[in-house]
Amino acid sequence: MSADLTTTLVVNGRTVTRTAGAHLSLLRWLRDVADVLDPKYACGEGVCGACAVLVDGEPVSSCIVLAAQVDGARVTTAAGLTGPGGELSPLQRAFHEHHAAQCGFCTPGMLICATAMLADGMTRTRDEIRHELHGNLCRCTGYQQVVDAIEAAQGAAQGAAQGAAQGIPP
Ligand code: FES
Ligand code: FES
Repeated sequence: MSADLTTTLVVNGRTVTRTAGAHLSLLRWLRDVADVLDPKYACGEGVCGACAVLVDGEPVSSCIVLAAQVDGARVTTAAGLTGPGGELSPLQRAFHEHHAAQCGFCTPGMLICATAMLADGMTRTRDEIRHELHGNLCRCTGYQQVVDAIEAAQGAAQGAAQGAAQGIPP
């Protein structure tokens, strides 16, 4: 039996402190202890991306990281991508508009990894988007609509950046 540890994480802007088994993965800590249910358990081996979250801004597979390892970190799940009033992020809106979620099981992880991908502001081709999503498995969409959504969000972000540079309000 492993000892308990007290871990504090800032989850989607909320400070959460829980005492739980030292062996718990970040995914189990979030889902079973902190009641944060949008990261999903699927492979449990760091292969499918369903459990992806941002830890201090970096995407990680939360099933293969211990919660205790990231004590004190900022953790963002897909639910934390919305604005303070619950408004969808541009990427979430693009997923909605392009029907990029069917059963939705992979979607939280897809949103997290795509958010991390777009954060650098680089322009990616569809092939590059597909390549970077190779760690996110989806059984439903064939990835077409997911790539459509990410491409649209990328274009919208760059249009807004160009507009801001020219003094055009978003
Ligand atoms: S459940 Fe974590 S990568 Fe599949
Ligand atoms: S939408 Fe069903 S697994 Fe991706």
